[in-house]
Amino acid sequence: MERLQKAIANSGYTSRRKAESLILEGKVYVNGIQIKELGTKVSPQDIIVIDGVTLEKVNQKEYYLLNKPRGYICSVSDDKGRKVVTDLIDTNSRIYPVGRLDYDTTGVLLLTNDGEFANILMHPSNEVEKTYIAIIEGILTNEEINTLIKGISIEGIKVIPKKFKIKSKDLEKNKEKVSITIVEGRNHIVKKIFESLNHPVIKLTREKYAFLDVKGLQSGYYRHLSLDEVKKLKKYAKK
Ligand code: URA
Repeated sequence: MERLQKAIANSGYTSRRKAESLILEGKVYVNGIQIKELGTKVSPQDIIVIDGVTLEKVNQKEYYLLNKPRGYICSVSDDKGRKVVTDLIDTNSRIYPVGRLDYDTTGVLLLTNDGEFANILMHPSNEVEKTYIAIIEGILTNEEINTLIKGISIEGIKVIPKKFKIKSKDLEKNKEKVSITIVEGRNHIVKKIFESLNHPVIKLTREKYAFLDVKGLQSGYYRHLSLDEVKKLKKYAKK
């Protein structure tokens, strides 16, 4: 048995807090009965309906770390017939990626069927650090680096990198390899940052997600997260 708001969050429908509001607003029904109290407990057999939508049951929780190859989209299906990241994981469960990497971006990607876990990691206020290695066109000037470090406004929201480093410069080919750590999760954010400095990203890989990297995993391969790793990641939830 678990609390109704937790069961709703675990299904991936929404966060625990929003689930609480939905219950208080009288939008949640368990086995056909409207529930408006937060203390209610439910079992896996109970049927939960919110705003007319029946929640999917999640049985065993699964957590994967994939070294995403290029040429895959971060979705569970694609109407254009492109390959999706879930094709790479051998499971019958309805897992989905935690956030997104672009079609051509490689590196650390988490996948799970635990909605609450995914919500914790994706919520901006929980500030999960992500480190990207980017090859960019051209060589950044000191002025541009200063602008970057102070924070660049992307669609009205300022992104201040937690860390930034030039890894190497290729003066002949006029490109540079940089490392940037951000807590932002907006789509295409790294490409937008460098685009705004007129140094488009040529190649992008996510080297680290929180404390996780892809060491020992070839491109396209995955492993299960350990219980300890899952516990540690859940601690990102702000108290
Ligand atoms: N930022 C991007 O621009 N692309 C990604 O895939 C991830 C972060």
